[in-house]
Amino acid sequence: MSLSNSQEVFEAGLQKAYYGKQQAVEAQQALIEETTDGTVKSALENHKGTTQSHVGIIENIFEKLGLDVKGDTSKGLDALLNECQNLVEQADGDFPKNSLVNEAVLKLESLETAIFQGLQAQALLLDDGTVLESINQILADDQAAYNEALGAASALTESTGSASSEEEASNEEESDEESN
Ligand SMILES: [Fe+2]
Repeated sequence: MSLSNSQEVFEAGLQKAYYGKQQAVEAQQALIEETTDGTVKSALENHKGTTQSHVGIIENIFEKLGLDVKGDTSKGLDALLNECQNLVEQADGDFPKNSLVNEAVLKLESLETAIFQGLQAQALLLDDGTVLESINQILADDQAAYNEALGAASALTESTGSASSEEEASNEEESDEESN
C-alpha cells in the first residue's frame, strides 16, 4: 500500500493500533490466568475492560473518518508478546511467575504507548479535535496502567525481600545456637 497523504498515513497507523488493542485483550486474558497475585490479577482485569473499550473507541474513529474497520498485523507487538509468554512459561514458583506477568504488563503498556504516540503525531496533522481527544484518552489510560503495574512490581519485591530477611534472621539464630 502506498501512503500519499496524511489521511492514508493515519489510516495505516490506526490499523496497526486496532490490531494491537485486540492482541492486548487476548494477552491480558492469558496473563490473568497465569498470575496468582491478587493485586496483579485485579489490575489486569480492570485494564482488560479498559482495553476492550479502546477497541470500541478505535472503531468509532474509523467510522468517523469514513474508513473501513480493519486491523493490520504488527510484527513488533507479536514478537514482544511471544517473548513475554515464553518467559512466563519458564517461571518456577509463584514469585517469579507473578513478577514476569507484571513485567509483561509493563512491556505491553510501553509498546501500546509507543504505537499511540506515533498515532498522536499523525492525528495532529489531521487537525481533528475529537480524534486527537480519543487518542489522548487511550494514552492516559495506558500510562495509568503502566504506573499501577510499576507499583505492583515494588510490592512483589518487598514481600520477597522481607521473607528472605526473616530467613536470614532465623539462620543467624540457628548458627548462634550451634556456636553455644
Ligand atoms: Fe493498555
